[in-house]
Amino acid sequence: MSQLAVSDLTVEFRSGGYIVRPVNQVSFAASDGEFVAVLGPSGCGKTTLLSCIAALMTPTAGCIRFDATEVTALAGRARAQYRRHTVGVVFQAFNLIPSLTANGNVVAPLHLAGVPRRAAAQRASELLERVGLADRARHRPGQLSGGQQQRVALARALVHEPPLIVADEPTAYLDHTQVEEILQLLHGLAAPGRMVLVATHDDRVTRLADQVVELVPRRTASGREPEGVVPADDLVVGRRDMARSSLLKEKTRL
Ligand SMILES: Nc1ncnc2c1ncn2[C@@H]1O[C@H](COP(=O)(O)OP(=O)(O)OP(=O)(O)O)[C@@H](O)[C@H]1O
Ligand SMILES: [Mg+2]
Repeated sequence: MSQLAVSDLTVEFRSGGYIVRPVNQVSFAASDGEFVAVLGPSGCGKTTLLSCIAALMTPTAGCIRFDATEVTALAGRARAQYRRHTVGVVFQAFNLIPSLTANGNVVAPLHLAGVPRRAAAQRASELLERVGLADRARHRPGQLSGGQQQRVALARALVHEPPLIVADEPTAYLDHTQVEEILQLLHGLAAPGRMVLVATHDDRVTRLADQVVELVPRRTASGREPEGVVPADDLVVGRRDMARSSLLKEKTRL
């Protein structure tokens, strides 16, 4: 049973004489099968946190473990293997290759992993069917709706059946119906053998969540929200855990 443990994670950016610390001693754990919402207003550090979990960024301090792997200590080939096989990433803007068909976009990471052409095409077909797009396999991204493009991106993230899916505001560019479709798919993926983390502003995501990790901007001394670049310590982190019924069980400022 997989376990993700984020301990005292801190990320600092130095900019114009200030230190911005969007992720400040964040700690939480998530288990196999969980659907976790990472919540907070713009600029609070959601993308930064998910980037660290996906090993796309190295934090300033703290530790991320996924089962026996210390993600924050990975380098070189081990880091590439983690990114390829352990974590599947879904981006807000889909990030599909416009010149390739839906099938081609899903095949691409399989080719990179050395999967033979025929097996890769077969696997891509299965995945597109799984996300309800069997009849759109030969369409290019420009011929697909936003929701359909995001479903292709989801299929691509699943090519190696990763036990961890990280989705950064996957519904931000979608209309109401498309949001429901993508959320149902993502929620369905949080099953034995896999956990799903979704960064969001959207209440519909938090209603489905088993746990909500909330990144909270602290008010400044003047009582106003911090704007733009802020000094270190102007941001703090809160966390709340929610039951699947969406009832708030507890809220703890860390
Ligand atoms: N490479 C960087 N250099 C300097 N500052 C950065 C860098 N990346 C992010 N930041 C700052 O860190 C903070 C958190 O950014 P992040 O993108 O993680 O926020 P977010 O919660 O994902 O926001 P949004 O909801 O708008 O996507 C912001 O203040 C941002 O300006
Ligand atoms: Mg973001």
